[in-house]
Amino acid sequence: MSLSNITQAKELRGLNLVSAHSHITGLGLETGTSLQPWKSAQGMVGQLKARKAAGVLLKMIQEGKIAGRAALIAGPPSTGKTAIAMGIAQSLGSDVPFTTLAGSEVFSLEMSKTEALNQAFRKSMGVRIKEETEVIEGEVVEIQIDRSVTGGHKQGKLTIKTTDMETIYDLGAKMIDALAREKVTAGDVISLDKASGKITKLGRSYSRSRDYDAMGPDTKFVQCPEGELQQRREIVHTVSLHEIDVINSRTQGFLALFSGDTGEIRPEVRDQINAKVSEWREEGKADVIPGVLFIDEVHMLDIECFSYINRALEDELAPIVIMATNRGISRTRGTNYKSPHGLPADLLDRVIIISTSPYGAEEIREILNIRAQEEEVDMTPEALALLTKIGEDTSLRYASNLISVASLVAAKRKASQVEVEDIKRSYTLFLDSARSVQVLEETPETFIGDGDVEMA
Ligand SMILES: Nc1ncnc2c1ncn2[C@@H]1O[C@H](COP(=O)(O)OP(=O)(O)O)[C@@H](O)[C@H]1O
Ligand SMILES: [Mg+2]
Repeated sequence: MSLSNITQAKELRGLNLVSAHSHITGLGLETGTSLQPWKSAQGMVGQLKARKAAGVLLKMIQEGKIAGRAALIAGPPSTGKTAIAMGIAQSLGSDVPFTTLAGSEVFSLEMSKTEALNQAFRKSMGVRIKEETEVIEGEVVEIQIDRSVTGGHKQGKLTIKTTDMETIYDLGAKMIDALAREKVTAGDVISLDKASGKITKLGRSYSRSRDYDAMGPDTKFVQCPEGELQQRREIVHTVSLHEIDVINSRTQGFLALFSGDTGEIRPEVRDQINAKVSEWREEGKADVIPGVLFIDEVHMLDIECFSYINRALEDELAPIVIMATNRGISRTRGTNYKSPHGLPADLLDRVIIISTSPYGAEEIREILNIRAQEEEVDMTPEALALLTKIGEDTSLRYASNLISVASLVAAKRKASQVEVEDIKRSYTLFLDSARSVQVLEETPETFIGDGDVEMA
């Protein structure tokens, strides 16, 4: 099983979710052990208690102290629940998987609800695999390429040295292309992975520091390596359990990773992979890194999903589950029971709860200001003040959405700065939910309601 190409597979879904939070680069806490939240840092403003709690949660995740449990971020709409989850995601190392799933997504995918959840759980479990490879590392003495007259067949020789030895290697067409692509010339210190043919330029040899013609302003100089040309190296890839599932699921194969069209994965495949991974762990070839699964709008899930989550949390290979909801006491979908946040009692029992509360005007202004900067929209202080007022009266999200609208309105009148008039105009162009409800109440006959359509 070759894993090197897979590490490049990127998660495509959830892009729009992220862009509304692109200003957030962390939780904005003091570094060190205090976890004290700054009033405004890393794009995060206010909501101090929740941020501090999220910092504690993050610590627990990093120290592996939260297995089998889950966290719930609860609070009214537009109070930064998703933003805080993104702050946690940003603070985790790049090789700790973080997966986002919107509650409703489970029902829209072309697979059963539990399969969708199962895939999300396994996307959130990282496997760090250590592989030994052979590399050739040295300073290039000469690259010699012979082109046949027909131009088709390429052959060449690479002379490469360390301070202790010098060797000539034959080059195939693939290697010649790779050297050309990296613009490798004599005097470069390179590392060449024998298995994959990957070439990395490490820098220019100090011995060439006086050939000014062959360098740019940011040329990096390095020592010519010592010792053997060929070296054994340990390289580490992190992939998710789900990626390993897909690659080994014969019917779909590895292209499915890019199309997102993985279909259901057979349980036997997963069993085999779990067995294989625990074998690798015992042999010291792999570590398992529990990542984070963030389920946003978790109240959209139904009782079957909740039972699945409850069971999955018990599994040895379980990620940390963070959920978010804006529901108070409400009915759990698929039951007639009401419970706090619509979560069944047994699941509620396992969660630690972080609660968020509505923002004051000052925080709203600061967040809108950060969003305007993020979207590169220049706004007069008066316009920002009006937008803040709108944010207080409607919601932060609505006000935030008006930024780009207002910037288009301003552009239309060829102004580079958003003014009060542009905000007013945008406010009348797009309704917030309260005004939309008002329209519905005034003209109910023009809309289709629940009672109008006969359901089969
Ligand atoms: N404390 C905060 N600091 C910075 N930006 C925030 C904060 N809270 C919310 N936002 C931003 O305001 C918008 C709405 O917040 P969001 O996290 O989506 O609310 P919720 O998930 O609670 O409904 C998003 O663009 C979000 O990034
Ligand atoms: Mg949200």
